[in-house]
Amino acid sequence: MNRYNLGGHSGCQIFLMEDGETTAYVRKISKDREYNSRLKIQSEKQAAFCGDPIKAPKVLGEGYTEDGMYFFDMEYIQGVTLAEYMKTMEIGKVKGLVEILVSSLAPKKQTLAAVEEQLLATDIFRVKLSGLRKMLSNDNDVVNQALNMLEAHDWSKLSPSQCHGDMTLENIIIKNDSLFFIDFLDSFYDSWILDIGTLLQDVQVMWSYRFQKNVSMNTVLRLIVFRDLLLDKISKIDSSYVIEIYYALLQKLIRIYPYIKDEFTNHFLNEKTSCVLQNIKILEGQPGEVV
Ligand SMILES: Nc1ncnc2c1ncn2[C@@H]1O[C@H](COP(=O)(O)OP(=O)(O)OP(=O)(O)O)[C@@H](O)[C@H]1O
Ligand SMILES: [Mg+2]
Repeated sequence: MNRYNLGGHSGCQIFLMEDGETTAYVRKISKDREYNSRLKIQSEKQAAFCGDPIKAPKVLGEGYTEDGMYFFDMEYIQGVTLAEYMKTMEIGKVKGLVEILVSSLAPKKQTLAAVEEQLLATDIFRVKLSGLRKMLSNDNDVVNQALNMLEAHDWSKLSPSQCHGDMTLENIIIKNDSLFFIDFLDSFYDSWILDIGTLLQDVQVMWSYRFQKNVSMNTVLRLIVFRDLLLDKISKIDSSYVIEIYYALLQKLIRIYPYIKDEFTNHFLNEKTSCVLQNIKILEGQPGEVV
């Protein structure tokens, strides 16, 4: 059996396994023993996912390597990531992509969370945010302002639902106009709104593209069109979702700060977080500064 390294950033090893005779498949191996349980959750989440018309590669098997690392095998999807596809696709195809994503993720109509669910959501976010406040230094005005707004926000409207956990453009594969989710992640709270917030981290904040020097104007344009169509489509289902999505994006950005090691990323994140704060203020009808 030949193994070809497919890369990845999380430290897990991802191989395309192929012997020229049987059907090729992908094997994802845990980076260390501590990560075994999280990768197992990932494979379970992937196997359980149902979000027609979007699919996840079929999980074919699982096991442990000789040195005790958990692995799982999955169907190989011979396509490209949406992050790559965005660089060359016809702009007219963005609308179709957005329609597929929204019909897979968003509920057809808003259902009010049960009282216990609302209390649970409020509690989970309160604990998460207070942990974040302790981790973050208080000499950054942008972070302070964001934390204040996040703590004052009413998270009870976030009904629990199926959630991918790390829905970046790099974790979506497109093949013949069909979309596949890969790289599911366990999250502190499961809601599709958080997934759309993560998607905005790419289509609005351009996080996956931050180190790329030559992102063309056309790619930027496609991302803007993607974001506008996405928010428009979702707000037609229920306009109150949009503000929840921006709060989801804000908490996502703030959670990156503890991991920042360089000034470039710090500056990038400060700028983008300020813009999101302004977006929220405008959506909430507070006067925002022009940025
Ligand atoms: N089932 C699959 N079929 C085709 N390609 C795949 C498949 N699974 C993973 N890949 C390729 O390998 C890359 C890395 O996979 P994955 O996102 O699971 O890894 P990761 O190391 O966990 O990355 P991350 O930093 O996003 O956590 C993907 O971007 C994709 O190009
Ligand atoms: Mg990934």
